Amino acid sequence: MRIAVVGTGYVGLVVGACLAETGNDVVCADVDAGKIARLNAGEIPIYEPGLEPLVERNLRDGRISFTTDVGPAVASAEIIFIAVGTPPGEDGSADLKHVLAVADTIGSNMPDDGPEKIVITKSTVPVGTAAKVRAAVARHTGRTVHVCSNPEFLKEGAAVLDFMKPDRVVVGVDSEYAREKLGELYAPFVRTGNPILFMDIASAEITKYAANAMLATRISFMNMIAGLCEAVGADVTHVRQGIGTDERIGPGFLFAGIGYGGSCFPKDVKALIHTLRDTGVDASILDGVEQVNDAQKSVLVQRVTERFGADLTGRTFGVWGLSFKPETDDMREAPSLTVVRGLVERGARVRAHDPEAGHEAERYFEDLITSGGLTLCEHNYDCLEGADALLVLTEWAPYRNPDFARVRAQLGEPVIFDGRNLWDPERMREAGFHYVSIGRQA
Ligand code: UGA
Repeated sequence: MRIAVVGTGYVGLVVGACLAETGNDVVCADVDAGKIARLNAGEIPIYEPGLEPLVERNLRDGRISFTTDVGPAVASAEIIFIAVGTPPGEDGSADLKHVLAVADTIGSNMPDDGPEKIVITKSTVPVGTAAKVRAAVARHTGRTVHVCSNPEFLKEGAAVLDFMKPDRVVVGVDSEYAREKLGELYAPFVRTGNPILFMDIASAEITKYAANAMLATRISFMNMIAGLCEAVGADVTHVRQGIGTDERIGPGFLFAGIGYGGSCFPKDVKALIHTLRDTGVDASILDGVEQVNDAQKSVLVQRVTERFGADLTGRTFGVWGLSFKPETDDMREAPSLTVVRGLVERGARVRAHDPEAGHEAERYFEDLITSGGLTLCEHNYDCLEGADALLVLTEWAPYRNPDFARVRAQLGEPVIFDGRNLWDPERMREAGFHYVSIGRQA
């Protein structure tokens, strides 16, 4: 099938590469000329395991191409994915200007004949957006256009695998034609028997937000329980196992930590709250989810000040991990933004390491780097040089089994604040550390 994907962010790029991999003819379009030039040279602007070889192979074999000419790309495609950003507006609602601009371009580049077109919203868009897309296209053309909502559930760091082997594919359709075409398009991805769930468009649109909001709710719920465990001397790890083995609850997404970050959960929870309020539905559950998450991002700074005092002048802290989770260089809404700034604002110096997010950190923390508050280190042990304590903010694999003797020798005091519960508190005590983690006893 001839496919156009508009928007080469995380989602667009993965969708384009994976659909090319299954033999489709894919053109990815983006107005960012710099990005397109890099992609045409086989260079991937983001760190995502497995994506680069996939793009390289499909570029070489001519199944994928990259262009800044959005008009011709959508004019020649039978299936068009809209995968542009939906940044939060001032009030938290999703801003649809990029999505509707693409719909406009599709309408104004509609050929007079040729196969019927299917326009798919892949971006995370609030319920009712497909109808707006349809209206924007119809302003320019009388031709039938099938509009679908096909939300994406891929996780950063596992995006290629998630797309190639999805738990399910959700498609909101309004015609038998679209249903058949998308059934064919996705057939190679569900050969193991996982379902393609066809439904009405509004339900598909809501499914995406409901999934992310449910997952965010589980995390905030566990962070709340972690607070209780700390207060009464219990251990959140045991509680997680105790409830996660209940089939109705399941084990996933129950890890307490320093709050969820990334480009999706914070934005989508906000947008869903907005939609709920707009439609007169009580949003208090999600208000609570947000509140807990905001507070959780500051928990480690609080623990640090409990140990070292509110004024951290003259103190230095080593930080392991800056990305919002492992296997990504993404720092959007990362808890590290709150923690590192919180420490520096209280007078401390921070020496931080991340296996992949160094260049992003330079951007996010430009002011702190210039002022000398933050130094980015090449190696994770370099962070510990002259540091009073170590903070672990992201559970990158290389941090999981460190040389504790070396850590202890380098630290001014053997103190570790672990925001990701990487190690066993008992063993850390035996190893001579004052070890503070989340929802467990120090
Ligand atoms: C999330 C969803 O998991 C995807 O299904 C969805 O497609 C995507 O958003 C999206 O809407 O595009 P992602 O943001 O890549 O994916 O990251 P997650 O792996 O879901 O992690 C989100 C945050 O939750 C991270 O900060 C992580 O550290 C935190 N988390 C996750 C916890 O604190 N505890 C957990 O048990 C799990």
